[in-house]
Amino acid sequence: NAAAIVLGIETSCDETGVGVVRMRADGHVELLADEVASSVDEHARFGGVVPEVASRAHLEAMVPTVQRAMTVANVKESDVDAVAVTAGPGLAGALLVGVAAAKAYATAWGVPLYGVNHLSAHVAVDTLEHGPLPGPALALLVSGGHSSLLEVDDLAGPVTQLGATIDDAAGEAFDKIARVLGLPFPGGPYIDRAAREGDPEAIAFPRGLTGPRDPAYDFSFAGLKTAVARWVENEERVGRSIPVADVAASFQEAVADVLTAKTVRAARDKGVDQLVIGGGVAANSRLRSMAEQRCADAGIHLRVPRPKLCTDNGAMVAALGSHLLAANVPESSLDIPANPGLFV
Ligand code: KG4
Ligand code: ZN
Repeated sequence: NAAAIVLGIETSCDETGVGVVRMRADGHVELLADEVASSVDEHARFGGVVPEVASRAHLEAMVPTVQRAMTVANVKESDVDAVAVTAGPGLAGALLVGVAAAKAYATAWGVPLYGVNHLSAHVAVDTLEHGPLPGPALALLVSGGHSSLLEVDDLAGPVTQLGATIDDAAGEAFDKIARVLGLPFPGGPYIDRAAREGDPEAIAFPRGLTGPRDPAYDFSFAGLKTAVARWVENEERVGRSIPVADVAASFQEAVADVLTAKTVRAARDKGVDQLVIGGGVAANSRLRSMAEQRCADAGIHLRVPRPKLCTDNGAMVAALGSHLLAANVPESSLDIPANPGLFV
């Protein structure tokens, strides 16, 4: 079994990502290229991702990004053994651009096509950094578009969604609170930075869905978001200046607390001792430190890829594709659809 080279394409949201990986015969996956063209700046003035703007940007960036990734990876068309692409979940028009491109490349190069689940790819990317996943794991995926708790037995197989947000995604909550505090979009990194100077216990914000009768593994951030917005409005009404650092730290503490508490509880319930955290919010310093501490206490081995691999990229899709190829999973049909609601 020789090494296999897989090219991965990601266009589910606002990043046009193309990655190239090589899976060695011993099952280790090496990253050869990870090129990302983001349209985030074009969305910033709207305070959120505009689907039509994202689709057009993917269309413009697709071919140059593939070419750049192949140049960086130093691979020729004839070196590629498979093409993988995010089939969903995501924005319909955005997904369509990547899926159409992947079909075209797979057909032109005469190699198998794998349409993959974006969430599984966020988990698979960790194998690029920490090696093969030995046995079952839980995955906490938190980004601007999703907040899910998954159980993964085998990267090449189906994953089980234990829970998900019932309203806003965690990153969405960060972005909205940043807006309330007058910080730029996307707000997560700015809240993280502001929180460093603040007191996480200054304001007791609510922890959504943590009551005894609430679903154990689902998340809710809409109540927290409203509570923070109302608190800020009240302070403004009585003419007090807003302690931005304290609000940011207290809000961030509430999000990290709920995410880690539920995840550790799920790991205990399921008897799983490995946790992968992914998605853009995995870059959050408080989420990382709290997860490290609580996982250590619970005897859970924590795997968090570096921030560049946590946000949407093509390398994660290529990594998952290489696991599917190695496991001899049948290739996808050339008429697979882009599936915005895949697995949600
Ligand atoms: O995975 P990602 O790049 O794109 C998707 O949404 O799929 O995640 C972007 C999200 C944004 O909501 C951004 O505010 C958030 O991740 N984010 C953070 C941090 N860095 C990025 N949230 C909290 N703390 C951070 N340091
Ligand atoms: Zn994502």
